Order: sequence, then C-alpha cells, then structure tokens
Amino acid sequence: MKEKISELLKEIEGFAAQTREQVEEFRISLLSRKGKISVLFDEFRTVAPDVKKEVGAKLNELKSKAQEKLNELKEKFESSDASASEADLTLPAEKFQPGSRHPISIVRKQIIDIFGRIGFTVAEGPEIEDDWHNFTALNTPAHHPARDMQDTFYVQKDPDLVLRTHTSSVQIRTMENEKPPIRKIFPGRVYRNEAISARAHCFFHQVEGLYIDEEVSFADMKQTLLYFVREMFGENSDIRLRPSYFPFTEPSAEMDVTCFICGGKGCPVCKGSGWVEIMGCGMVDPQVLENCKIDPKKYSGYAFGMGIERIAMLRYRINDLRLFSENDIRFLSQFRPAL
Ligand code: DAH
Repeated sequence: MKEKISELLKEIEGFAAQTREQVEEFRISLLSRKGKISVLFDEFRTVAPDVKKEVGAKLNELKSKAQEKLNELKEKFESSDASASEADLTLPAEKFQPGSRHPISIVRKQIIDIFGRIGFTVAEGPEIEDDWHNFTALNTPAHHPARDMQDTFYVQKDPDLVLRTHTSSVQIRTMENEKPPIRKIFPGRVYRNEAISARAHCFFHQVEGLYIDEEVSFADMKQTLLYFVREMFGENSDIRLRPSYFPFTEPSAEMDVTCFICGGKGCPVCKGSGWVEIMGCGMVDPQVLENCKIDPKKYSGYAFGMGIERIAMLRYRINDLRLFSENDIRFLSQFRPAL
C-alpha cells in the first residue's frame, strides 16, 4: 500500500498536460469515484490497525497533492484561453515588407543578361590576386608608371599578393587556361586604396569583357559596345570612343554614351557636354596574348572594363558612392522590383 501511494505521488508530480483534454483525463484517472485514489481509499479499510494512522496520513496527503495539481493545471489552461480571447482580431495585420535586390546586383544581372544574349558567358576569379595576374601579365611590370593609377592594397605578409585592383586579372586567368575562341565577361569586386568620399571608395565592382578569335577587329568591338549601350540605356543612345591609354590594350579608348538625362543636349550630370564616360576598352595588346601563350599572329581580340557603381549611379541618379555600402534600408528599399 505504501509503495502504491509513493508511486502515484511520483506520477502526479511528474505529470504535464498539453491540452485541456489531458487535464480532464488526469482528473478521471485519479480523483473520480472509480479513480486510482478512490480505489486506494477502498483498500485502506483492509490495512492492519498498527499502520493505519501512518498510511491514512499518506493517503490524505496524496489526495490533496492530486487536487492541488489539478487546480494548478486548470488555472493554466483557463488563463491561456483568456489571453487568447483578449486579442483584437479586427486589428490590421503587421505590414509585410518584401525584400529588394541591391542596385549593384540589379545592374550586374542586367549587364550579364545583355552580353549573354550575344554569347558571352560569365567567369570569375579570386579577389586576392598575385602580381602576375593583376599587373605583370597585363603589360604593367614593376615600376611601370601605370601602376600609380591604381592605388594598390598589398597583402602584408606577401608582397606578391594584392587585393585585385581591377577585374582585368580574370582576362589573364582565362587566356592562360582556355584556347580561343574566348567570349566571356568577368563581374567582380575590386579594391583600391582611396580615401572614401562621394566619388571614390576603397572597394567597388567592375565587369570586364574579353573576346579573342581569329580576325577580331576594332569595328567588332565598337558594334558590340553599341549593342550593349542601346540595350542598357535605350535605343536612342549613341557611343563615342576617345583615344586613351591602358598598358594592356593597343589601341586603347575610353567610351562615352549619350547622356540619358538630357538626351545629349547638355546638363549638370554630363557637365554640359552631352556625353558621359562609362568604360575603358581596346584591342588586347599582342604582348598580353603572348604572356598567356596565345599566338598574336593568329589571334586578336578586344577587351573592355566598366564600373558597375558608375552605371548604377547614372541610371538611378545616385550621387554618392557611399550609399551602396551603408546598408541604409531607406536607400535599399527604393529598388524594389515593380509588382
Ligand atoms: N582595367 C581598367 C580599369 O580598371 C579598365 C579597362 C580598360 C579594362 C580597358 C579593359 C580595357 O579590359 O581594355 O580602369
């Protein structure tokens, strides 16, 4: 009898209910007229007189423990019901804020899609780059004055390693590993040791393009870039190539597009000229081809490189580069895709 009592006591103490029904089951199994405790009271009559007092006290204790537990459980379920009914079901739901793509991702994807339609595929390279791929193979050996154009971050422990200053490094990696024809674009993040301001940042994004095959000409490049610009900025856009200098292209050019704010009439964005500069380009220097073991007598090609931020700034009229990396939700939420 004593054993049964202590067993039941344990059962009661360990009992937990998830539902109202379980509480009722608990009551029936222990405290109803035919429940386990009532059965024990029946049995109590047969207990030997010398232990009756002790067992009786235990039995009463068991019963009040069970009652206590039952009250506790009932209270718990009642109070949770009450709080549910206090909720105002007529309140409007919390506003759902759909996410948005970052403007850099939007423009990056547009560029990839536009070039994808004329057969350019995408490749990527490492952001920590060695001197060869970032400079030397691109015709920019040590002490070449053109290195000054790109304020380089060196990886301290190894002077041979840099944070790539442009995605042109991926041109080299591709030409080293693949045979022409090559028709690729290389989007990615690049780094320069510049003081951060509205117009300069220590990291930004570029898309590089490369086309190598037999008999590729400057005219091919011009036509491809005109196609790109009209897809990107609209059918009425034109391009203008100005002679320039890059160590890895010969001849080299900088490309302007018709200012799409004023349509070429002249405005503050294009500083009155009607044109805005968007990329560097040119015919891949034969020495660069040779550096990558491609025969310059058989193959020629063009390359170009543009800043994604620059294009996004022009398109969306963003006037401060820092906005792209500050993660201000007021800025980012303006680029929701139209529903
Ligand atoms: N790498 C150049 C830069 O970061 C951009 C560039 C210019 C890339 C001319 C090219 C090119 O492929 O042909 O300023």
